[in-house]
This record gives sequence, C-alpha cells and structure tokens, in this order.
Amino acid sequence: MFYEYITQMAFEEFKVRRYDGGLDRARLELLERRCEVGPSQHVLLFTDTMGDPISRIRNSPMYIMLVAELNHELVGAIQGSIKVVTMKELAKVGYILGLRVSPLHRRKGIGLSLVQHLEEWFVRHQVDYAYMATEKDNTASVDLFVNKLQYVKFRTPAILVHPVRTRPLKLSSKIEIFKISEENAEYLYRRFMGLTEFFPSDIDKVLSNKLSLGTWVACDQGERCRFGHNGYFPTNWAMLSVWNSGGLFKMRIAKAPISCMMYSKASKVINKAFACFTMPALLSNIFEPFGFYFLYGVHHEGPTSGKMVRALCKYVHNMARVSEDCMMVVTEVGSYDDRVRPHIPHWRLLSCPEDLWCIKALKSEGRESFNELTRIPRTRPLFVDPREV
Ligand SMILES: CC(C)(COP(=O)(O)OP(=O)(O)OC[C@H]1O[C@@H](n2cnc3c(N)ncnc32)[C@H](O)[C@@H]1OP(=O)(O)O)[C@@H](O)C(=O)NCCC(=O)NCCS
Repeated sequence: MFYEYITQMAFEEFKVRRYDGGLDRARLELLERRCEVGPSQHVLLFTDTMGDPISRIRNSPMYIMLVAELNHELVGAIQGSIKVVTMKELAKVGYILGLRVSPLHRRKGIGLSLVQHLEEWFVRHQVDYAYMATEKDNTASVDLFVNKLQYVKFRTPAILVHPVRTRPLKLSSKIEIFKISEENAEYLYRRFMGLTEFFPSDIDKVLSNKLSLGTWVACDQGERCRFGHNGYFPTNWAMLSVWNSGGLFKMRIAKAPISCMMYSKASKVINKAFACFTMPALLSNIFEPFGFYFLYGVHHEGPTSGKMVRALCKYVHNMARVSEDCMMVVTEVGSYDDRVRPHIPHWRLLSCPEDLWCIKALKSEGRESFNELTRIPRTRPLFVDPREV
C-alpha cells in the first residue's frame, strides 16, 4: 500500500503518488519532452521512452515510479529500483533515476519531495545505500542531492561516446574475437569482476535479458582453443558485453527555439559532431530519435590487454553499423580504469569526462562502514549495470 502525500506550500499544494499507466503515460511523455537532460551547453539531448515511461526500471528486480501532481497537472516524476550489489561487501542499493520537474514548476520543493518519498520507499525495503548519478556541472541536481539531502560525492567515472560511422573499422588479424555463452560469461564475470564496486548479484539476469546482445572475448590468435580450459587464461585478454539501449528508449536531439541564443551554438556543435556521418539517411534527419549500444562489463587482464579492448570496441562498432538505428556506442569507466580509457575509441566532444556518482547511507547502523566506504580510494574498477544507464 502506498500512501498519497500532500505537500503544503505557500500558495499551491502538490501531491506525490505512485505512477498510474492509464492516467499518466501521455502526460509523462509530455513532461519528458519538456525536460532537457543535464545542462544544455553542449547538444540538447532528450530521451524518448517510446510510449513506455518505466522502460528503464522494468528490468530491475524491484522498482517504483512516483509522480507529482499540481492542480491536476503532472509536474514531476522520479524512478527508483533496488538491487543487491557488491559494495564493501554485498549491500542492498536503491538507485534513483529519471528525476524530472517541469521547468515551469522548479524551485517549489517538488524535486526535493519526490526524492524524499523515494527514500522512504527504500527504507521500507531495508535498503542500505541510496545512489544517484548526475553530470558534475548540473548545479540544480548536485545542490539538491549533496547540499540539501547530504549525499556524498563518491565516484567520477567517464562516459565515453563513439559515433557510428558508415565504414567498418579495421580489425587486427593478430587478435581473435569470439562470442561466449551466457553461462561462460556469468562464470567469468563472477570470477574476475565479482568484487568490483556495484557488481550486481543477479548478473545472470542481466546477461539473459533480451536487450543483452552477448558477450565477446578477445585474445591473441591461437589462444582461443585453450581459453578457459582447465583454468587456463592467456596472459593478455579482454571481454565485454553489449546492451541494446535503443530497445528501451531513444535519444533525440532537440531543435532549440530560433529565438534562443543557444540555437546557433547548438547547431554548430551538432554539425561538428555529426560531420563524421556520411550516411545520407542520418545526415538528412539528425533530429530523428536514435538508439545506442552500451558496452558493459569491460574487463581486461595483462599488460597489453588494452589493444584487446580496442579490438572489441571496434568489433561492436562494426555490429552497430549494420543495426537499424544505432548511432552511438557508449561505455562508462571508473577513474581506476585510466589505463584502459585511451583504448576505448570515443569523441571528446560527445563524452562526459566526469559523471558524478553520489551515495547516502539509509541505515544508521551502517554509518561506520559507510564512512569507511567513502574513504576507500578508487582502487577497484566499477561495474556499470546497463539497466541503470
Ligand atoms: C534537478 C531538478 C529535479 C530540481 O527540481 P526542483 O523541484 O526545482 O528542486 P527543488 O525546488 O525541490 O529544490 C530543492 C533544492 O535543490 C537545489 N536546487 C534546485 N534547483 C536549483 C538550481 N537551479 N540551482 C541551484 N540549486 C538548485 C536547492 O538546494 C534547492 O533548495 P532551495 O530551493 O531551498 O535552495 C530540476 O531542476 C530538473 O528537473 N532538472 C532537469 C532534469 C535533471 O537534471 N534531473 C536530475 C538528474 S539526476
């Protein structure tokens, strides 16, 4: 049972309640269209959930969406999911996603109230830590979570974006790339990444999801036949998995109003960013919604495994080329993974060098281990679950 909350304000009152598909779907799509993602000094990017606003959380074991209503208008929304992941040890983490408040109703306490209600739902489900990610320069979001709600800045991974070109990228003949089964992928992930921060205990569910296109391994030519047999692994190898985010939601580049000063700047950035596309269909309508592949579970072993990672990225790029509307290959790597970052092809213009991850302990008895956790230097890689992207 979820109770409705009425929040009194000086002149207006708003109500926070559970999302109701029948009542809210269309109004939510409208809200999403009104809310730009992050600060708009780069390209104005909007998400298009293709008629299913809860598509992002639907694949998590437990999830909820709350909406805020003011005078029968839908003015805000937030999504949350709960999963067991590796932190210092296994912990229940509540993920905060998709917080949006209509631009006309900002600074009225709606965003704050939505987060507080979601935190209450987390507490009712014995969540240890609440987690959220935002762009480092999204002042409204950082102020809300860090200053107002005492979240702690935790990690700053980089989001690396690589546009898909029409020509295939050349692969080295010295490196062999092969697809492995879900069972083998699960085994390798639990063995090599099980202690990675945010590693999901239900990795098997991620790998078997229909959006997960598979897992690939790269190693030197000649090593494939022995790979993994009797505990043998080559000195240098790498693996990654591919998630078809475009199957869930699309990104859309918005046309800013002509009157808006940003427009000329945005147009220049867009033109520059998309100058690399030679496919006429893409050039003719860059404002059409497009999908992207997300690379997750990037793992590599050995001093020269960077080139294996590069080969895998190129391989996925070539897969994306022949897909219907995949225009980007995206991945997110922690600062600990600095060694591998140069090997992941990406465009600096489209990438985000520091995505900000914040967390907050929700149980008072966990405070000590939380303090310890936030003091731990970045000595471990991060696992970025594609379900939260
Ligand atoms: C971030 C966002 C949800 C805030 O919603 P909101 O309803 O305007 O926020 P609130 O009125 O509840 O503000 C609560 C606190 O957040 C901070 N805050 C909110 N907007 C701010 C802004 N523009 N600048 C600085 N601080 C801001 C303040 O600390 C504020 O407290 P105060 O009003 O007492 O100073 C809203 O700006 C938004 O939808 N942005 C676009 C989407 C987005 O970036 N989502 C966040 C992704 S994690």
